[in-house]
Amino acid sequence: MNLPSLLWPNPDAIPAPPQPGILGILASGNGSNFEAIAQAIEAGELPAHIAVVITNNPEAYVRQRAQRRGIPCVLLNHREYPSREALDAAIVQVLQQHQVEWVIMAGWMRLVTQVLLSAYPERVLNLHPSLLPSFKGLRAVEQALACGVKITGCTVHRVTLEMDSGPIVAQAAVPVLPEDTVESLHRRIQVQEHRLYPLAIRLCLAEGSRLPKFSEKRHN
Ligand code: GAR
Repeated sequence: MNLPSLLWPNPDAIPAPPQPGILGILASGNGSNFEAIAQAIEAGELPAHIAVVITNNPEAYVRQRAQRRGIPCVLLNHREYPSREALDAAIVQVLQQHQVEWVIMAGWMRLVTQVLLSAYPERVLNLHPSLLPSFKGLRAVEQALACGVKITGCTVHRVTLEMDSGPIVAQAAVPVLPEDTVESLHRRIQVQEHRLYPLAIRLCLAEGSRLPKFSEKRHN
């Protein structure tokens, strides 16, 4: 069946960023979105460089994906830090060591604190598998199915302290089919995530010139 999908903003309307962005990816699991971003960079669709991947999960498959691509992957296991703030301070240190300008949460399953947001104001993006503001938090696909919605999708938004609530950057809609399971619906949402996230990053890079520049001092 040829399913319609709707994505906004229109990819053709996204201007070219003035310069390539330096990305740091935060990922807790499989890393298919990391892969999609890396492929978009390779294809010349996203002018960016992935400087580092950070994971909190020793078992995360994203570690192997990063290794295959020769991208440094740093494990910061949240269990080894006394607080969320302490973990975020360690994350900021690694990001700054790698000169990262944009923090891209791709399947990152930890809440962030002001420590990260203050280091990267307006420069932390998250991907969520629903059309926000519906179905925030864990098991978003399950929530959508249980609610009986006929259209769901995925959202890229700027991260704020409140979970899944920051300003929305881009969204893609995905129809829910009568026979859908959580797995089948999540698979179709992920197809859209893989299109949407590189476009949303490109849009933020294009708009990024109005944000405060990253000084040398910030990277020390
Ligand atoms: C994605 O579907 C993403 O939307 C979701 O985790 C998956 C990661 O997949 N994120 C969240 O639920 C965050 N609240 P991936 O590891 O294959 O990129």
